[in-house]
Amino acid sequence: MREAAGVSIRSRFARRSFVSAVVAAAVILQTTEIRAQDGGQLAQAKGCMACHAVDQTKSAPSFKDIAAKYKGQDGAAEKLAAELKNGTGHLQIAATDAELQQLIAFVLAAR
Ligand code: HEC
Repeated sequence: MREAAGVSIRSRFARRSFVSAVVAAAVILQTTEIRAQDGGQLAQAKGCMACHAVDQTKSAPSFKDIAAKYKGQDGAAEKLAAELKNGTGHLQIAATDAELQQLIAFVLAAR
């Protein structure tokens, strides 16, 4: 009897954390999607698409390939934003820090 009660409390707890995790994941996904949409417009406006495409290699690698290259790398977003901002390893992009963050988030979200 006691065993059974223990098991049911544990599984109720497990279910509750599972639900929280799903809710948290949904919120994160939604936020990323909204940012990615704005990022797409910004990428057009800033002329990125003259050389890049989301999923085709043009004169520059596709955003998908760039995202794959940096997947799971700590500090990738900061490194790439700095490259574009300072014109080191990439042509310099005239954009505010907030815009750069949004652009890089868009690039790294490509799949
Ligand atoms: C004149 C052409 C051109 C334009 C415009 C351009 N890019 Fe690029 N970009 C390149 C080329 C070429 C590379 C590949 C350089 C390399 O990997 O050495 C590149 C690479 C990148 C990378 C990966 C850099 C790395 O270190 O791996 C990112 C991120 C990027 N571009 C983002 C952008 C964004 C965002 C914009 C618009 C604000 C933009 N690019 C506009 C040509 C361009």
